[in-house]
Amino acid sequence: MTIQLKEELKTLDQKHFLHPTTSIEQQQIQGPAAIFTEGKGIYLKDLEGQSYIDGMSSLWNVNVGHGREEIAEVAKEQMATLAFSSCFASFSNEPAIRLATKIASLTPGDLNTVFFTSGGSESNDTAIKLARHYWLLKGQPERQKIISRTQSYHGVAMGATNATGIQAFRNFTNSPAPDFHYVYNQSVRDLREMIEALGPETVAAFISEPIQGAGGVNIPPEDYFKEVRNLCDEYGILFIADEVITGFGRTGKWFGMEHYGVVPDMMSFAKGVSSGYAQLGGVVISEKIHETYCQLSKGTLMHGYTYSGHALACQVGLKNIDILERELLIENAASMGEAMLAGFKALQEKYSFIGSVRTIGLLGAIELVKNRETGELFETAISPIFVQETMKRGLILRTVTYEQDTVVFAPPLILSKAELNEMLRILDETFEFVRKTIIAKE
Ligand SMILES: Cc1ncc(COP(=O)(O)O)c(C=O)c1O
Repeated sequence: MTIQLKEELKTLDQKHFLHPTTSIEQQQIQGPAAIFTEGKGIYLKDLEGQSYIDGMSSLWNVNVGHGREEIAEVAKEQMATLAFSSCFASFSNEPAIRLATKIASLTPGDLNTVFFTSGGSESNDTAIKLARHYWLLKGQPERQKIISRTQSYHGVAMGATNATGIQAFRNFTNSPAPDFHYVYNQSVRDLREMIEALGPETVAAFISEPIQGAGGVNIPPEDYFKEVRNLCDEYGILFIADEVITGFGRTGKWFGMEHYGVVPDMMSFAKGVSSGYAQLGGVVISEKIHETYCQLSKGTLMHGYTYSGHALACQVGLKNIDILERELLIENAASMGEAMLAGFKALQEKYSFIGSVRTIGLLGAIELVKNRETGELFETAISPIFVQETMKRGLILRTVTYEQDTVVFAPPLILSKAELNEMLRILDETFEFVRKTIIAKE
């Protein structure tokens, strides 16, 4: 029965479902890598009843873990009462008002006013447009350029794609948008040179993830963002922090920027705000920007999604934040992150082909290298095989092979010590397998 259903779904999937960020070739040959049917805690179950640790919180987002009935209950109640009503033309609803207020209380500094979206890409498009609009209102219409970093990922809407530093996403089409520029990853000097070369009076904003996720969990040097903030202030450029992955506890603090003691002018968020229980994201803007809008904007704010301020999604967001607070999940992310790093370091001592290991909260990476001293990579990346093997052993992970050979980690923030140990045991077993079957033959 299960085999029959699986075959049927596989055929239908191949014919009718164009998957996001997927190798079409692989899907057409093999069908879906797994068809999930249930989630509970850190575990996912597939059609055949096989259980997996969701080592990536799916897409770095299921922060409170799967199968939360209390979220389902508030969602049911909200949907039955008021699933949706418009927020255009100043219409409003209580969940949106309450969630905006709650987020304003959590975000650092004077980041106090929220624009809602349905996800991270929309959030970054919104942040870019809000920054450019700010300069129009301020009478500096030439300030339209956006600077982002190489190895950054900001999503796949038009603005977000063009701000994304990982070139493969931009190469997907052949029509780049004007006014996007990419500065070498962690160099403040390069950023200054770029701003001066472009002309500071033409730059609207600099956008950066606090810790790059899809680019390989790249943790910047301690002073990087302080220097960036100073540079932006010197040239009057807006600083947008893309907290889509790092927001809502992932790094052991509410927001990634808090590690660096820096308050950006805008923060985009998504993922962890609802832990994937509803499609939700947004941008928080500073009081300075909000006041400018309030004072100078005369017509309509010509930007809004049908689902901006979606009542059901906002109610889900509120319950999700309630769980993060009540269960001390941010604190758990910090302490489990340290334990995860200790586990990675023990593996690093055991296997010579592990290069750098790093974590910040429950966001982590293990790099695979041919030569630890020189950082030389294997000719063919090992990490894709590695994650196939961990999957066979019940652990879902993800790789980054863009200029590196890295396995990345983002388990749910509810992770217990016993569950972490189980993850580490699977990693150890898989590293041993790779050592015997691949490394020994190199
Ligand atoms: C840092 C960052 N920004 C933006 C996005 C895009 O978010 P979404 O996929 O919800 O549009 C992602 C998605 O992974 C992300 O990691």
